[in-house]
Amino acid sequence: MATDFTEETAADAVIESFGPDTNPRLREVLVSLVKHLHAFARDVELTIPEWEQAIDFLTRTGQKCDADRQEFILLSDVLGLSMLVETISNRKFGVATESTVLGPFHVVESPVLELGANIDQVGTGTPCVVTGRVVSVDGSPLPGATIDIWQANDQGFYDVQQPEVQPRTNGRGLFTADEKGEFWFRTIVPSYYPIPTDGPVGEMLIATGRHAFRPAHIHFIVEAAGHRPLTTHIFVAGSEYIESDTVFAVKKSLVVDFEEVTDEAQAAQWNVGKTPFRHADFEIIMQPGS
Ligand code: BEZ
Ligand code: FE
Repeated sequence: MATDFTEETAADAVIESFGPDTNPRLREVLVSLVKHLHAFARDVELTIPEWEQAIDFLTRTGQKCDADRQEFILLSDVLGLSMLVETISNRKFGVATESTVLGPFHVVESPVLELGANIDQVGTGTPCVVTGRVVSVDGSPLPGATIDIWQANDQGFYDVQQPEVQPRTNGRGLFTADEKGEFWFRTIVPSYYPIPTDGPVGEMLIATGRHAFRPAHIHFIVEAAGHRPLTTHIFVAGSEYIESDTVFAVKKSLVVDFEEVTDEAQAAQWNVGKTPFRHADFEIIMQPGS
């Protein structure tokens, strides 16, 4: 081990300190981390006050975490790290539907619902019908696939953010695709919304002149036998912030038209109380595997 710590030898000194029994993958990750961390500090000539500020920021980020709030994940999200890891882990496979971030609001078990049920328990907002099919990459339908849905309301809040206003499980549903792999449900068009900004991540967004908004979207986790589980969203085409999602989660293939429908007969068939309403149709193509 080096005995004379210099800017040039610092990273190697740390790397050489790892013992021979270190798990190989842990070694690989830590060696790269130390090299990049040291290169970063040298690159920006990190000062002691800046180092102290960084330690304070990370300390407060940890202190903001509890059972319902994960400020470190939020930090990872706004730095684009969550999307990068997601994209590395689920590299696009042919025509398969692309994945995107899980986000922090999948914290309530979705109620099991019949196809066609309304996941909106409040009755405000623009009614909307979502229809879709779950298929494999060869186009064959996947009957029995499960589709777990969660979304914000028309004001941009999830049920868990407004326990006094929204019933718990509002905007959530767990559906099972029929024998043709098809599913449908009723809801309202979700709104764009800001991620939580009352912590260190919010400070960082302000300090860097960034907004906190995500474009309107509906979350999906889809599972089908013999296929890799898929965590994704559909984004409402034309939503504010579709070009500047603060967590970088938009993929063009996931942007879906929520078309206006004025046909009364169609409203009656789908049991939608009023026209106009919106209709989104989306094919979910699952990748074989486990
Ligand atoms: C969400 O879509 O629910 C979400 C994702 C990342 C950060 C905050 C919220
Ligand atoms: Fe969301």
